[in-house]
Amino acid sequence: MNPVPNITLNDGNTIPQLGFGVFQIEPGDTAEAVGRALEIGYRHVDTAEMYGNEAEVGEAIRASGLDRGDVFVTSKLSNAFHDPEDARKAFDTTLSDLGLDYVDLFLIHWPLPTVGNGDFVSTWKALEEFKGDGRSRSIGVSNFQIEHLERLASETDTVPAVNQIEVHPYFTNDAVRGYGQEHGIATEAWSPIAQGGVLEDPTITRIAEKAGKTPAQVVLRWHIQRGDIVFPKSVTPSRMEENFAIFDFELDASDMEEITGLDRGEDGRTGPHPDTFAHVPG
Ligand SMILES: NC(=O)c1ccc[n+]([C@@H]2O[C@H](COP(=O)([O-])OP(=O)(O)OC[C@H]3O[C@@H](n4cnc5c(N)ncnc54)[C@H](OP(=O)(O)O)[C@@H]3O)[C@@H](O)[C@H]2O)c1
Repeated sequence: MNPVPNITLNDGNTIPQLGFGVFQIEPGDTAEAVGRALEIGYRHVDTAEMYGNEAEVGEAIRASGLDRGDVFVTSKLSNAFHDPEDARKAFDTTLSDLGLDYVDLFLIHWPLPTVGNGDFVSTWKALEEFKGDGRSRSIGVSNFQIEHLERLASETDTVPAVNQIEVHPYFTNDAVRGYGQEHGIATEAWSPIAQGGVLEDPTITRIAEKAGKTPAQVVLRWHIQRGDIVFPKSVTPSRMEENFAIFDFELDASDMEEITGLDRGEDGRTGPHPDTFAHVPG
């Protein structure tokens, strides 16, 4: 029995709450890492056009011998392709690079409100087409702030199934998460252990010692109990196993509160701010 719970999205599809992230895994290392993750039991892989490793993710899924329907695959539109015609071509390339005839979830990677005319609404309408023709089972966004989500709500027909945003104990991002909870948008927490940056925090190491677990396990368990979807990245097999072994213990209410209390607000953010991030690959 796979221990990972499924979350039901607002379109009725389900997603494993724990997956495997492949940001910053070199293409040459990706097939091996994803293959190992699938052996351990991960059934959800989070990639993106901008990670440059979609082909190797697809290769690992085929080599695993698992049925396509048993692995949840997410990819994301490159910042270079917000124009709807570009988005259609880029999505075709994603499917052919992955070697799949559908993805489970496709996201707008960043809103880019300051790039060009800042029109992520027509980009979103292109993603609605991909959902409509069944080539993306679910569609969502990433790094969207409340005002971006409100704009989609007022100008389009589909509520994103997920919003993938930076969340970890130093940056709980609770306003954006709260908007998602009120509007049926599941939160996916990226950099869930802040790329290792929260693992030496004395509160976390103390709770880990008490639980007989590692700091990474405690932090990932905190996300799971908050109801968010996570996909820690690691190229280290022992860490992949460690990050998967988080379903045999529970944090109590005071542990949960203490970890949430580590929030540093904007000072805790490690990645770019979505309102100003304007990187477009050349
Ligand atoms: N939508 C977005 O804009 C966005 C942005 C960032 C990330 N993401 C997604 O979120 C995923 C996860 O985020 P992330 O990769 O930035 O960071 P992360 O998962 O928080 O941390 C990954 C780092 O922590 C180390 N690590 C992993 N498990 C560990 C453990 N048990 N103990 C100690 N160290 C450990 C890894 O090292 P080793 O690999 O060397 O083991 C790696 O350096 C990404 O892979 C990607 O899928 C999305």
